Amino acid sequence: MSHPPFLWGAATSSHQVEGNNQANDWWAWEEQGRIEGGVRSGNATDHWNLYRQDLQLAADLGLNSYRFSVEWSRIEPEEGVFCHEALDWYADLLGECEKLGLAPMLTLHHFTSPKWFADKGGFSSRQSCKLFSRYVKTVINHLGARVPLWCTINEPMVLTVGTYLGGFMPPGEFSPALGSLACANLLQCHVEAYDQIHTQIAKRKGPWKSWPIQAGIAHNLVALQADRAWHPIEQILARTISRFYNQAWLDAITGGPQKFYVPFLFPKARLVSEALGRKTADFIGVNYYTRGYVQWRPRDAAQEHSPNLPLGISFARRKEPASDLDWGIYPNGLMQMLRFASRYKLPILITENGIADREGTKAPHFLFKHLEICSQAIQAGIPLRGYHYWSLLDNFEWIKGFGPRFGLYRVDYESFDRTPTPVAKLFSEIIKSQPKGPDPTFFKSKRCPAFPEP
Ligand code: FCB
Repeated sequence: MSHPPFLWGAATSSHQVEGNNQANDWWAWEEQGRIEGGVRSGNATDHWNLYRQDLQLAADLGLNSYRFSVEWSRIEPEEGVFCHEALDWYADLLGECEKLGLAPMLTLHHFTSPKWFADKGGFSSRQSCKLFSRYVKTVINHLGARVPLWCTINEPMVLTVGTYLGGFMPPGEFSPALGSLACANLLQCHVEAYDQIHTQIAKRKGPWKSWPIQAGIAHNLVALQADRAWHPIEQILARTISRFYNQAWLDAITGGPQKFYVPFLFPKARLVSEALGRKTADFIGVNYYTRGYVQWRPRDAAQEHSPNLPLGISFARRKEPASDLDWGIYPNGLMQMLRFASRYKLPILITENGIADREGTKAPHFLFKHLEICSQAIQAGIPLRGYHYWSLLDNFEWIKGFGPRFGLYRVDYESFDRTPTPVAKLFSEIIKSQPKGPDPTFFKSKRCPAFPEP
């Protein structure tokens, strides 16, 4: 087995870039007017037609990896009916990655599910594992031999919270009971996919066939703290939420206790015995964006609308440097999260890190600061093996629609032209000067791009 180099990559997900994913639950939700401004994903970035060009843009930056997701609703638009045209398209995408030297990380589920699957209760249904496993088997049969890096499920915790607590993902109903079922089923789906990836890929092919197969999840980590440091309830809440949001999944995929539980809010999830006492991840995938201030808001509980929770989380304080989505820019939080993830004694890959920045003036500062932290983490012995920027392109940012601009390349949604942003240039310079990974001497010798004045 050969040793993979440091992975310098960019990430996307199917529904956010491809366009016309008409058979999934998000498409249906968009039709119901659930996206801000009534927007719909439509053609998204038209990546479905422009993927060759897009991968070339990734390669132009000097990247050696590309994280993307395959769209279950294209591959299995109707229950049990698999679409070969879609599978062939992904095979072609892998072919382009091979030509361009972009080691693919394939995500099997990135927030969207086929509508037929969602109609059966999605991941809250016990059947979900059987159905997900059959889809995974098909993906493995068609594409598996060529894929060295796998992400089974993107941000399972965000998916659960968004779907059953926070109302920002379909079906957007408030039901901790269903959320609890979903946690267990998602874990089981993950474990089964992990095992299939490791047992069913018989003969490896392509430029990365000598790399060990690495599979894991991409896990969203938020640097949580009490909003008022002196406030005992907020301290307890911050710890409790962090244990649930940040820790539970990492414990679970490393064979530890499965603590999908929040007192008075989220009922204990069923134990998934297949995950106990064994690691079901070869790396920890970290999606890091921001910090979170946990607030005790007893008055909110009395409001008329669900979720009626006496707590809130804000991502930035007033006047704190923040992204266009008001997510505070907090590179030290990345260090905290990397230290935390390193407790699990697995290699770490940053599977997403980036910033919504329409003007293109905030992202260079953001990237520099976060990569500087990466360089320090590596120097401190944290086994960080890769960094994927979110995102290669501007794209459909879920409930926020097309407003937030996360791309290394700006997308004109009329002409579908792509234009590099200043952060693309900086990222490329950094990669080309440090092919082996972020190096502290570079960050010491260069001046960090300034953050724009408010
Ligand atoms: C992450 C998602 C990704 C994107 C970024 C901004 O939580 O995985 O799809 O929306 O946030």
